[in-house]
Amino acid sequence: MHVVVTGASSGIGEAIAREYGKRGAKLTLVARRRELLDRLASEVGTERTNVVQADLANPANVNAWVDEAEQKLGPIDVLVNNAGVQIVKSATATTWEEAERLLLLDLHTPLKLTHHVLKRMLERKRGTIVDVASVAAIAPTPGMFFYNAAKGGLAAASEGLRAEVKDHGVHVVTVYPGPVKSAMEEAGRAAYEDTPASRYTPTGSPDVLARLIAEAVEKKRPRVVYPRLYFLVRHFPNATRWALDTLTPPLKRLPK
Ligand SMILES: NC(=O)c1ccc[n+]([C@@H]2O[C@H](COP(=O)([O-])OP(=O)(O)OC[C@H]3O[C@@H](n4cnc5c(N)ncnc54)[C@H](OP(=O)(O)O)[C@@H]3O)[C@@H](O)[C@H]2O)c1
Repeated sequence: MHVVVTGASSGIGEAIAREYGKRGAKLTLVARRRELLDRLASEVGTERTNVVQADLANPANVNAWVDEAEQKLGPIDVLVNNAGVQIVKSATATTWEEAERLLLLDLHTPLKLTHHVLKRMLERKRGTIVDVASVAAIAPTPGMFFYNAAKGGLAAASEGLRAEVKDHGVHVVTVYPGPVKSAMEEAGRAAYEDTPASRYTPTGSPDVLARLIAEAVEKKRPRVVYPRLYFLVRHFPNATRWALDTLTPPLKRLPK
């Protein structure tokens, strides 16, 4: 089985790569920090890994490595669209350049990669697309104007694609992580004032999420919501909206 993980150099993507490494998969690892990918590849086994150093916020790089990856390790069985950035700042404090890079990486890139790889999966009548969206897609959080838009768009595309391709051998898993320990989660939390609500936010582990994702792929489950408590967010949208609007801590003041 050939699994591609974008954003495999840290956090959730690294955990997904390790999980599939344990399961004996061949792995293509994509991100910018080559040294972290090389270290991960040597831990998993260099004979069954393919390292791709690429800035996926540049549209020219998004599909450029796919042919070579398939030549090295065979057809892609699982594409995990995981690479992402988050901006936690007021909408107007975000520069348009920052916003555009986020929208490219978090929305344009997974759609472009899926568009490219899906055609091949449909021809083979086999394969799985995993989209790592966010609970922010269902419960947009104040302070994440562009991130909410990108993740909402990705989740909508992902959920809608599933039924379109299900009778053609391809499965789609949409992933909704709530807070999960990683560099992104730490930076995001630090952007808000410290309040009791922020201190007690349930936070998950990347390893557990990675296992749930691999199980969802194997058992053809439609989606993963983790930590599990965030299932409530899907089922009680009005209460969630109220809670987010009233309990989200204020953003810290940026130094002038
Ligand atoms: N952690 C959470 O609480 C949480 C919650 C909801 C959703 N998510 C989503 O989960 C995914 C993984 O996040 P994480 O928490 O694991 O964050 P992370 O530790 O910061 O990892 C982000 C990954 O994306 C890669 N990446 C960033 N910019 C890139 C670029 N321009 N080109 C290629 N790769 C790039 C990074 O690699 P390089 O820097 O080496 O390029 C890194 O491997 C993201 O899509 C995020 O939105 C996370």
